Amino acid sequence: MPHPFATHAGVRRLVTAAIAAPSVHNTQPWRFRLNGAAAMELHADLDRRLTVIDPRGQALHISCGAALLNLRLAIRMTGHRPQIEFFPEALGRATLLASVRAVDAPMPSLEQAELYAAIPHRRTNRHPFSKRLVPQPVRRELMSAVRTEGAALALPGPQTTAYLLSLVAAADERLASADEYVAELARWTPDRACGDGVPRYAFGPRPSGRGVPMRDFGLAGPVPGRKAEHFTARPQLGVLLTKGDGPADWLRAGQALQRVLLTAERHGVSASLLSQPLDMRVGASTATAPASHGHIQAIIRFGYGPPVPGTPRRPFPEVLTRI
Ligand SMILES: Cc1cc2nc3c(=O)[nH]c(=O)nc-3n(C[C@H](O)[C@H](O)[C@H](O)COP(=O)(O)O)c2cc1C
Repeated sequence: MPHPFATHAGVRRLVTAAIAAPSVHNTQPWRFRLNGAAAMELHADLDRRLTVIDPRGQALHISCGAALLNLRLAIRMTGHRPQIEFFPEALGRATLLASVRAVDAPMPSLEQAELYAAIPHRRTNRHPFSKRLVPQPVRRELMSAVRTEGAALALPGPQTTAYLLSLVAAADERLASADEYVAELARWTPDRACGDGVPRYAFGPRPSGRGVPMRDFGLAGPVPGRKAEHFTARPQLGVLLTKGDGPADWLRAGQALQRVLLTAERHGVSASLLSQPLDMRVGASTATAPASHGHIQAIIRFGYGPPVPGTPRRPFPEVLTRI
């Protein structure tokens, strides 16, 4: 098979897979730079950083990590394997997160092929999930997917779930009264589906009464036609944890997040995120950890939801440059 960086079609396939990744409020804070045919560089696009919501750049790095996992899988599909140097020039070029080479390798495993196939189908699902429980073998696979990437996934029981939901609710209340936060959120929830941001059709319904405090994307004002629906107060949550809490850990968390989301998709399990307790944090997130297992990088809701449409992405030429 030709080297994946050697042809326009090959590069397009890789970047298209990478940018299908989830990103905080669909900011797509990434750029790819092709260094001849030798390496593909992943850069953070600091113009797309959420300076109020994400002052440390945690969500930005997690988003870029998710794109990196997709890029790795796409390279595996070409009969190559990715060889990655993380933060190769951290001091000189602060935006350069990873430099990825593609070296010859045997064909991918069935699991890798299935994860790759799941990339275009994975979506954030903000609808109520059915009462059906995520079976134990699937839960084990979700944990294993995260472990593969050097992070941990805790699947809390009812008590910790209630505690986590109370944190989300408290954070929601705090954030709703922060004007700068509401203004930044409004900028990324436009009233039209363009190349980025969370379109209104993806908001999902408002929760009626008490239940899962889903993120209220309608903070900046009511959304006409948006209905209220009942969400279970006992969702299957997953808490993604890392040992450290710096840029390298966030990049790892992003890869783990995307691997678990693709694994869920492979099993027909829907997912959405509840990041409110992590928003606007200026310090490490240890205080919100359910146990002393590490730093919370993501709170995920798993279950079985209705089909939802995909969200827009910026066109491929906008995110790729060549040197
Ligand atoms: C780091 C990170 C944090 C996120 N936080 C939330 C969140 O709190 N609430 C939510 O509904 N979606 C959240 N999302 C999902 C994004 O809004 C979603 O990925 C983006 O809008 C693109 O849509 P898609 O996932 O359907 O492709 C988050 C995604 C990432 C990567």
